[in-house]
Amino acid sequence: MAETQKVILIGDGAVGSSFAYANVLSGVGQELGIIDLAEDRVQGDVLDLIDALAYTSPKHIYKAEYADCRDADVVVITAGAAQKPGETRLDLVNKNLRIFKAMIKDVVDSGFDGIFLVATNPVDILTYATKVFSGFPSNRVIGSGTTLDSARFRQEIAEIINVDTRNVHAYIMGEHGDSEFAAWSRANVGGLQIYDWVQEHENIDEEELLQRFYKVRDKAYEIIKLKGATHYGVAVALNRILKAIFHNENAILPVSSYLDGEYGIEDVYLGTPSVINNRGVRTTLELELSDHELEQFRNSADQVKAILHKAMD
Ligand code: LAC
Repeated sequence: MAETQKVILIGDGAVGSSFAYANVLSGVGQELGIIDLAEDRVQGDVLDLIDALAYTSPKHIYKAEYADCRDADVVVITAGAAQKPGETRLDLVNKNLRIFKAMIKDVVDSGFDGIFLVATNPVDILTYATKVFSGFPSNRVIGSGTTLDSARFRQEIAEIINVDTRNVHAYIMGEHGDSEFAAWSRANVGGLQIYDWVQEHENIDEEELLQRFYKVRDKAYEIIKLKGATHYGVAVALNRILKAIFHNENAILPVSSYLDGEYGIEDVYLGTPSVINNRGVRTTLELELSDHELEQFRNSADQVKAILHKAMD
């Protein structure tokens, strides 16, 4: 990775702009170029973000062109049509596949040979499409996956059991969408399996805890209904993944990762805990899931693959 850690953001809408702001606040990387068809908006965002640097940390921020991807370390993609009230993430497939086909070609034609980080929904399908359209190895094509969902899940658990979210280790896996599932069998708090924690604390209502999964799964719909879009949560999740790459952390995050036989699932991207470092996905973890969770994971894979192959073939 180059001395100057450079990220190019493609898409300066609500998610992209929020990611750019989260990136400025975090101080991750030294260069941020922003590409969007709405050139005045990009220029305005650049000028506005530069104002934030005085109280954060130095960063070269500018309105970028595709040629600027050539020596970028990471290209973050948020561009595309966003979910509208009543739309599922999978409803966006055809619109966004067309956008991605042209966009990925422009990035690859620049000579880019870094890591793609995709957030546009349906993120698992568009991450797979990015791998196909770019021809890059799967470890250098990552999707935001269920990183945000898992954050939401950990917060719900932490609230119910009254523990700091940072001490709750729990994953939502599968599609970033309606077929995702909670890996309850792997959830633990301070080293104690969640079911043992509930057994030891009579004040915790197990059923209420289990029901919180549905609140997590449907939270984006609730936010979209109220304010038209979600963007802060996914923006911070994207920047967390970027930090794991730029700082070579070998951090475990449930990104949308390419499955090539793990869990008996092949040739699809799905939210799966993976080790992330400066080369992208170092390895995808194969957790020991319950039979029911494994069934849910495979069902999620089937649902995503059905849409994927229909759209890509
Ligand atoms: C959400 C969008 C990023 O879950 O899909 O908020």
